[in-house]
Amino acid sequence: MPGRAGAGTVAELLREVAATLARARLHFGHGTATPRDEAAALVFHALRLRHEAAPAAYRHAVTPAQRERVRALVRRRIDERMPSAYLTGVTWFAGHAIRVTADVLVPRSPLAELCERGFEPWIDAGRVRSVLDIGTGSGCIAIAAAHALPRARVDAVDVAPRALAVARDNIRRHRLQRRVHALRSDVYAGLGARRYDVIVSNPPYVPPRAYRRLPQEYHAEPALALRAGAGGLAIVARILAGAGRHLRPGGILVVEVGDSEGAVRRRWPRLPFTWIEFERGGGGVFLLAAADLAH
Ligand SMILES: C[S@@+](CC[C@H](N)C(=O)[O-])C[C@H]1O[C@@H](n2cnc3c(N)ncnc32)[C@H](O)[C@@H]1O
Repeated sequence: MPGRAGAGTVAELLREVAATLARARLHFGHGTATPRDEAAALVFHALRLRHEAAPAAYRHAVTPAQRERVRALVRRRIDERMPSAYLTGVTWFAGHAIRVTADVLVPRSPLAELCERGFEPWIDAGRVRSVLDIGTGSGCIAIAAAHALPRARVDAVDVAPRALAVARDNIRRHRLQRRVHALRSDVYAGLGARRYDVIVSNPPYVPPRAYRRLPQEYHAEPALALRAGAGGLAIVARILAGAGRHLRPGGILVVEVGDSEGAVRRRWPRLPFTWIEFERGGGGVFLLAAADLAH
């Protein structure tokens, strides 16, 4: 697109950006799945359009200054292989706007769907009073859970202070400071003997060797958010080991392990994992009941 004339309307600009992104052979794995989705994210952001304004907004005229703003974003997306959410500073998770910086993983977990349903049918949402989100990053899971479970208090923990700063900013923007608390904790280490109805986590689970081979876009994210030792299972093992001591009776543990699902099944052959299916796609998420983990 840079250097080309045209782009008279939003629709034309979207088509041009999508074609440019497709030609650049980028990786689309950070909340957008296609060049067209990604073009929409960049164009709507640069033109300060709300996504709800589509499709009427497609007919709007684009000024030269707006076109240049879009081009600058597209150039960075291509030259730096930067996920578009870092360029726009915002993404959507379970229908909620979440601010992101390069200090946090770009939210994209299938757990969004489960948060929206208040973890039903796996637990009665009406009786959930406490949730722990381990490795909260931007705070997306904690915030989505709090919105779906208005009577629950949520502890959002992370070991990375810079991630916690982003999470606190998001918690404040969502006016959830009274119920969602961002805490520094190495897995459970900072939580004393607290117990929860729901423990949920999207921890780092990429084995170091697989991490090195990931497309460049993933290397723009904090390594601490993706890479984990012990074949990807170092943090998962600690979450499993302590869950029995931190779940209330009747509580549940829900953990995303992505492509490490096979490794999890092999390492803990006797744990009765339920592997959750999602309507909107994605997988590699297991569920265990407190009774399966009792200490
Ligand atoms: C895959 S990211 C998930 C971020 C966010 N929950 C999401 O779904 O987008 C994993 C997060 O776990 C954090 N983390 C890594 N090791 C940790 C540990 N030992 N204790 C707590 N958090 C940890 C990272 O800093 C990162 O924010």
